[in-house]
Formats: sequence, structure tokens, C-alpha cells
Amino acid sequence: MVCELTIVIPTFNEKDNIAPLLQSLTRVLTGMNWEVIFVDDDSPDKTWELIQDIAQSNPAVRCIRRVGRKGLSSACIEGILATAAPYVCIMDADLQHDETIVPQMLKALKQESLDLVIGSRYVDTGGTGGLSAQRVRISKVATYISGLLLKHPVKDPMSGFFMFKRSYLEQILENLSIKGFKILLDMLVSSPAGLKYRELPYTMRQRSHGVSKLGTQVIWEFFLLFADKLFGRTLPVRFISFTVIGLSGVLVHLSVLWLLYRTGATNFIPAQALATITAMTSNYVLNNYYTYGDRKLTGWGFVYGLVSFYLACSLGAFINIAFAGWLFGMNITWWLAGFLGAMAGAVWNYAVTAIFTWREIGKGQN
Ligand code: GDD
Ligand code: MN
Repeated sequence: MVCELTIVIPTFNEKDNIAPLLQSLTRVLTGMNWEVIFVDDDSPDKTWELIQDIAQSNPAVRCIRRVGRKGLSSACIEGILATAAPYVCIMDADLQHDETIVPQMLKALKQESLDLVIGSRYVDTGGTGGLSAQRVRISKVATYISGLLLKHPVKDPMSGFFMFKRSYLEQILENLSIKGFKILLDMLVSSPAGLKYRELPYTMRQRSHGVSKLGTQVIWEFFLLFADKLFGRTLPVRFISFTVIGLSGVLVHLSVLWLLYRTGATNFIPAQALATITAMTSNYVLNNYYTYGDRKLTGWGFVYGLVSFYLACSLGAFINIAFAGWLFGMNITWWLAGFLGAMAGAVWNYAVTAIFTWREIGKGQN
């Protein structure tokens, strides 16, 4: 067999970690038929260039450079689908995951004919070693919430370190959401009840170089993953995210209005106008970060995006009022007419900004 094990490593600004990581992997995996596929989202620090250089002299190293796309889960899936090896392992590039258990993981998969082996921080001798107390707390809360929804009692469903049979992944491929950061969780939720898995303990190390990409955006994506599992067939999760942020805009609007008008700083009309602009701007910034984190607009793209967002939302407000007025004229009761008008405006804003503001292949990323 040419290649038995492919290690898929998503990277974003991990330049200083690549050489030490490859060294450790080579040390641990000598005698085995393995390769590594890095999936890099066009890192500004040019991680991809360094990997390409190494790949010139090392056929066991490959690099997929993705442009105009972003996201940990989708990067992993692209790496997995780029190999024909029967076993695939996913790990971080930053040496946080203990590569010395990789041979053990493969052995367990083969000998016990499992579908999945998870590197776990929460069984036996495993540990969160290098993680800050704050991170451990977030991880535990996320683990608890997922536990409520998972049919498999996995101790560490948030792990980013695991190995599986490629054939198993291909069976569940259609069911995956491929959104956000938590690909293992996505796989577990999408797996049949008969999934054969085992958790192997490991202690997480501290990141060697660079910074963690886990932020509030990742936490938001965690909830979107569940929303997608629950309503994904009927409602696009981006629309859910857009609507929740829209509701936050109502609060922003009312706060500004209160601040300016109620405190007597200005008259009603200027207060209302400023409140509208502030709410639209905060909606734009939040959507850019959370709803479209994978297509985030920056630099001039951010400014053009803001202008197109203002334009789309102004028309949306017009449609909202016109539609609600028409319904009200048809003798529809006031709250229903108001609600339907607002929803029509929201759908308009969502659809138009999805096409014009956050285009699929956008410029000005990263
Ligand atoms: N291609 C690509 N695109 N790679 C990414 C992206 C992205 O948008 N975001 C992050 N990465 C890469 C990083 O370069 C790193 O190699 C790996 O994905 C994980 O990102 P980290 O920033 O190191 O995340 P973490 O250490 O905070 O969290 C990790 O450990 C947790 C606990 O095991 C992740 O593996 C989590 O998924 C995991 O829950
Ligand atoms: Mn990491």
C-alpha cells in the first residue's frame, strides 16, 4: 500500500510551527507509510509558501492553499477528500496535540476495527495541561451542552485531535454541516448509533508559536452548528445568525434613542436618525464578524461593504413599512402586520447583503 495514514493539518499563520511539527511526526512515525496534507487558508504569514518549499524535497508533504475561503472544519474536509489513504488523522499545527499517541491511535483503529479514535483530555491520564483556566471552563461548558444533544457519550467531543477510517467519514459526509470550528462534534452528531469509537488519553501541550484562533466567533459558530442540526433543513443558519443580530440592533437603537432623546440631548428626529445609523453600523460589524466570519471584509472592502449595507437596509426599511401598511389596510391586526413587515424587511436585507455585501468569493479577505 502506498500510503496508509494521512495526517490532515489545517493551518492559519503557523509558519514557525511547521518544521518542528514535521520533525516530531517523522520521529514518531518512522517505518510507517504516512503523508501529511496541510490545508492553509492563504495565511498572511505565508505558511503555505514554506510548506510548498518543504514539499519540493519531501514527497510525504502536500499543501492545499485555499483562497477566498476560510474555516477550520471545511479545511479539514478538503484535506480528507484529497487523499485515498484508508486512515486519516486530524491535528493542530501548533504542537498542542501529542503526536506520540498517533501510532497507538492507528493500532487501536485497526486491531479493534473501530471507526474513530479520539485523543481525549477528559479520560484516564488525559489532561488540559497547557490550557488557561478560562479556556478549560469554556471547553467544559461546551462539552456539557453537547452532552445533552449527543447520542454517543463521548468525554471530549470538542477535541481537535482524532483519527478515523476514511470510509466511515465518506458514509456520513452528506450529513455534515461543515460549519465552524468543531468538526469532531459535527461528525459525532452526524454518525449513526452504531458508531464504533474509543477515546485515548493525552495531555494537551501549550502552543509553541503563534496565537490561538479560538475567540468569541468560534463560540458563536458552536451555537450555529447546533442551529444547523436543528433547523438547517428549513432555515439557513446564516439567516438565523443575521436575525439574532438584527434583534440586537433593536436594543442598540432603543438605547441610543433613550440616551439622546430621553436625556434631552437632542430632539426626537435627530435622535431617531442617529439611533438608526448606530444600529445599522453595529449590525454590519457584528454580521461581518459572526455571520460572515468566513468571508470577513477588511480594509476598503469593509468600507464599501458598509455603504452597500446601509443602502440595502434603507430599501429594506422602505419595504418593511410599505408591506406592513398594505397589510394593515387589508384589516390585518396591528401586531401581525407589524411583525410581517419587519420579517419582509429582514428577508430582503439578508438576501440583498448576501449577494452584494458579502459576495461568495469576496476580495479583501484576511
Ligand atoms: N485552514 C484553516 N482555516 N486553519 C485554521 C483556521 C482556518 O480558518 N482556524 C484555525 N486553523 C488551524 C490553526 O492554524 C491550528 O493549526 C488549528 O487549526 C487549530 O486552531 P488553534 O487556533 O490552534 O485552536 P485551539 O488550539 O485554540 O483549539 C484547538 O484545540 C481544541 C481542543 O482540542 C482546536 O483543535 C479545537 O478544535 C479543539 O477543540
Ligand atoms: Mn491549537
